[in-house]
Amino acid sequence: MSFDLVLFGGTGDLTWRKLMPALFQAWRHGKLPDGGRILAVSRQQLSDDGYRAWLKERFAEVEDAKRPSDDEFARFVALLHYLTMDLSKAADYARLKAWLSSGAGGRGGGLADVVVMFLATSPELFPVVCANLGATGLNAPNVRVVLEKPLGHDLESARAINAVVRSVFTEEQAFRIDHYLGKPAVQNLMALRFGNVLFEPLWRREAIANIQITIAETIGVGTRGDFYSRTGALRDMVQNHALQLLTMIAMEPPPRMVADAIRDEKLKVLRSLKPFDDDSVGRDVVRGQYRAGTVEGKTAVAFVDEDKVPAGSPTETFVALRTEVRNWRWAGVPFYLRTGKRLARRDAQIVVNFRRTPHTLFPGLNPPNKLVIKLQPEDGLELHLLAAKGAFQGEALVPVSLDLDFDKTFAADRVGAYERLLLDVIAGRLNLFVRSDEQEQAWSWVEPILDAWRRDDTGPRTYGAGTWGPAAASALVARDGNAWDEEE
Ligand code: BG6
Repeated sequence: MSFDLVLFGGTGDLTWRKLMPALFQAWRHGKLPDGGRILAVSRQQLSDDGYRAWLKERFAEVEDAKRPSDDEFARFVALLHYLTMDLSKAADYARLKAWLSSGAGGRGGGLADVVVMFLATSPELFPVVCANLGATGLNAPNVRVVLEKPLGHDLESARAINAVVRSVFTEEQAFRIDHYLGKPAVQNLMALRFGNVLFEPLWRREAIANIQITIAETIGVGTRGDFYSRTGALRDMVQNHALQLLTMIAMEPPPRMVADAIRDEKLKVLRSLKPFDDDSVGRDVVRGQYRAGTVEGKTAVAFVDEDKVPAGSPTETFVALRTEVRNWRWAGVPFYLRTGKRLARRDAQIVVNFRRTPHTLFPGLNPPNKLVIKLQPEDGLELHLLAAKGAFQGEALVPVSLDLDFDKTFAADRVGAYERLLLDVIAGRLNLFVRSDEQEQAWSWVEPILDAWRRDDTGPRTYGAGTWGPAAASALVARDGNAWDEEE
């Protein structure tokens, strides 16, 4: 199968940090179909060789295991081409079409079997690129468009983008990326729930006390101060990654493992989330912003002193919230979500806290069972149980855990999120991509929070870089008699 992958934003951060390393890994693993070409597109005047040299320099910053040797790089870049384009000019799309229809790079004439348009640009450009692709006739059924987040800034802008995308491409041609769905641990969550008989009977309000989703990062905003200060953690992480994780935890089993069946179930969860109003935002949502501090032994400046962040910016770098999924299965079970930059540890995990046994037979207040689904840095599962140490003579039970480390068990089969998702786009598998109605529903749910914050000029609570966020985040959970996992 021949394919062409066009990367708009070909010299941008996302391209060299995530997409090119992922494509290189896919190539290294022999997973890229033969007869493929990758065309990077941007405004800069570069030749194919100029682009390859630029990329080689960038690759020096990629982590060791993912960096090509000189020989590998030389073979990989034979797939790579470059085209200078001004994305606002119709004539440039005609040049793109001519390139795609040509045999450049050794393939025969005519469009490839599959053409992927990956929009790794800022979202303001999505409508203009899609409209131009449509006007040039580059929207035939074998063309797929990949949209990187952020998909808009709020519900209205997301709807506007989706309207243009829909006027040019069908929903089946639109691949909205949420790279958290490509993480192996998230795939495994589906396998755990729907491939085993063990958990599903317990996966409900009668057995589960609360669920905690944490996506903690130690990095700050780095070179993205201007983007981030306009965006904030709610838009950057909660509206998409954290909510997608929540849907995977809370969804009903889909009738079949096909994209629309899965996405229908996820949409139902999003529609069941308890809506926010000004009162509940004040009570159930905590926003924070990091002060200076020490993270992993290194001093870190305050958010407001980061490069390209406007002085006094009120943007949140941390959000913790409490919500509920209002349906038969989950009524009354708190779902706590928490994410932030410059936190104590890089740690993304979902903790399912089970209820206590209904009747006490053993001495002491035994901790209830707990399932920890680890997304990163480890990829695994921990099931916390209680055991008797020896012959029972009235002593307390001991906490033990079953640990599964999927990095070890499955080693080479666990591929990175972008590698997996890029291969899915080429193969036309939509299961792990977000449908427009899911995405708009997620915006509708976060919007009252954004509105309430806009009206409340007290701004975010601050927290020291290297901590677990503002104390109010612990209080939010403590109010229900609970604690975040690391505080127990
Ligand atoms: C991106 C956010 O979507 O996800 C970044 O824009 C964040 O701010 C990143 O750092 C986290 O991804 P990962 O895979 O490193 O956890």
